Amino acid sequence: MRLRKVLIKLIILGTALGLIIFGGFKEFTKSQKANSEGQVNYLIGVSHPNLNGPWQIQMNKEIKNEIANHADTRVIFTDAAQNDEQQVQDIQTLMSYGIDLLIVSVDNAAILTPVISQAYKKIPVIVLGRGVKGYDYTLYIGSDNQLNGKMAAKEAIRLLGNKRGQIIEVKGYNGSLQAEERSKGFHETLQMESSHTIIHSITGNWLKDKAEDELIRLLQSGVKPDLIYAQNDAMALGAYKAIKQLGLKGVSIIGSDGLNEKNGGLHLVKEGIIDTTYITPTGGTTAAHYAIDILHEARGLPKKIILRDHQVTINNVDSYFKNGDGGIVPHIENKHKRVKLGFAQVGSESEWRLANTDSIVSAAKEAGIDLILRNADYDQKKQIEIIRDFINQGVDVIAFSPKTESGWDEVLQEVKNAGIPVILSDREINVDDQSLFTSFIGSDFVEEGRRAGKWLASVSKSVKSPIHIIEIEGTANSAPAVDRKLGFHEIVQQDSKLQLLKSYSGDFTLGIGKKLMKEALKTYGRKINVVYAHNDDMALGAIQAIEDYGLKPGVDIKIISIDGTLKAFKALNVGKMNFTVECNPLLGPELMKAIKDLNNGIEIPQKIITSEETFDQKQAKKEFYRRSY
Ligand code: AHR
Repeated sequence: MRLRKVLIKLIILGTALGLIIFGGFKEFTKSQKANSEGQVNYLIGVSHPNLNGPWQIQMNKEIKNEIANHADTRVIFTDAAQNDEQQVQDIQTLMSYGIDLLIVSVDNAAILTPVISQAYKKIPVIVLGRGVKGYDYTLYIGSDNQLNGKMAAKEAIRLLGNKRGQIIEVKGYNGSLQAEERSKGFHETLQMESSHTIIHSITGNWLKDKAEDELIRLLQSGVKPDLIYAQNDAMALGAYKAIKQLGLKGVSIIGSDGLNEKNGGLHLVKEGIIDTTYITPTGGTTAAHYAIDILHEARGLPKKIILRDHQVTINNVDSYFKNGDGGIVPHIENKHKRVKLGFAQVGSESEWRLANTDSIVSAAKEAGIDLILRNADYDQKKQIEIIRDFINQGVDVIAFSPKTESGWDEVLQEVKNAGIPVILSDREINVDDQSLFTSFIGSDFVEEGRRAGKWLASVSKSVKSPIHIIEIEGTANSAPAVDRKLGFHEIVQQDSKLQLLKSYSGDFTLGIGKKLMKEALKTYGRKINVVYAHNDDMALGAIQAIEDYGLKPGVDIKIISIDGTLKAFKALNVGKMNFTVECNPLLGPELMKAIKDLNNGIEIPQKIITSEETFDQKQAKKEFYRRSY
């Protein structure tokens, strides 16, 4: 886009948006003059729900600062001043002026999702900080809000000690997914792990004054809380003012945001105004980085980046003032030498796994990282031994693809004690202490299962009779098996004609897939209409068993699978398979990028979720020639 075109856009935009563009508009014209010789190629539109809160202002600042490093890119901001309908209009207006990419943060997911989905049909969209419903966006960047609420509940339990505490929750905004998720994590954990009661849950719209007013009203009616959990620091400050005004004593306050500025969470903790805050990164800088990558058509970008929140109390607040994180954030100690990575691969059970191993080897080579690759031959004990061996060898970072979700606490505590950061590759684990690993890079397995279920539901719409399903699961207690089952069942349960005959527990290998399908055919024979296998290899095994039985896979029995490997594409092409959900094994480049960041002292996200597609037989024909694994 030429400079003149942008200037014309700017003039029209200034007239049209009038009051709703504040600081950003001024910045834009200023830098426009400064760069009047240069060419402007990209225009990024940023839509805020409310630029009144400190967290949102910080987010805006980060985006502006980062984009200022790119002379050919400009940003325009809109502020909906906490009016959801206004934000819908802002996005439409930004679109009508030809922005090349939209960054959007929302308060009300239900109202904003449709307009964001519309925008996504035309340009890349980054959803920042506060989520929308569904997956109609290029990239989501934000914290794990449920975990944030869970951490706050654990902290409330600690602060309340033995007494049976009465809690008031001050939620962010009605309809905000961020507020709902935090609340869910808080309520569930508190209920499971304590006998404290949430006596009131009120809404403060993320604003200090509103929270203060609402609380004064409540407290005046005689309510006496032991703790107030406010979903951000502005409202936590409002809570403090309310209890002070009413002269209440002994009320603990938890907030969230952790900004380092006047009235920011770090200062509130330091001054004893609140007890605890959570540094929740706004993601502004990360969004701007990825916006530039997306505009330059970089490949292999993730779908979701989940940032890490940090709990701050009076015990550790000083370290955050010292150097940003005071060394608390995991990093690699020996910054200046070549990094030594120990990777404990789980096995060689599938085509997917072989492609994954290749990706790690080649990415390490390209990144100049010294890789020690060991294979656990699908044995958890062996995988643990390998990790212990890596500690003894003094590697700088350990990555592994855990066979199952449980059984890692002890060995990971040993790794933590040795000061070695851990990155989980491909599969997640269940540990109480989230600090036992630094980051996870892989897929959203629940969503993969949902996608398989949604396809089946959509092609079965016109069918009246029951559809009988056989499920062949992956390794018991492994993240992909647990989550792919969960996602699939969530969808098929909504349609009574989709009936599960039986779920068999497999192990992701072709041989077991074949064996289990043979068993299923022996029991249910021609009654089976659909096979849902948790990976391609087991689906391919099932196909062989069906053929041996004298039926036509893909025709007599529909085959749905997960992975999207070349062999699955071949089966789709010859009509023996019907649908595959992609699971991206090419995790090497993101892993090496994360390791380099750790080596440079840059905090890496808590989770990086890969971007994936789905393929029916028609779509597979196009993709077939592009598949490298
Ligand atoms: O964890 C990823 C899964 O493991 C793949 O879907 C499967 O093929 C592999 O063995």
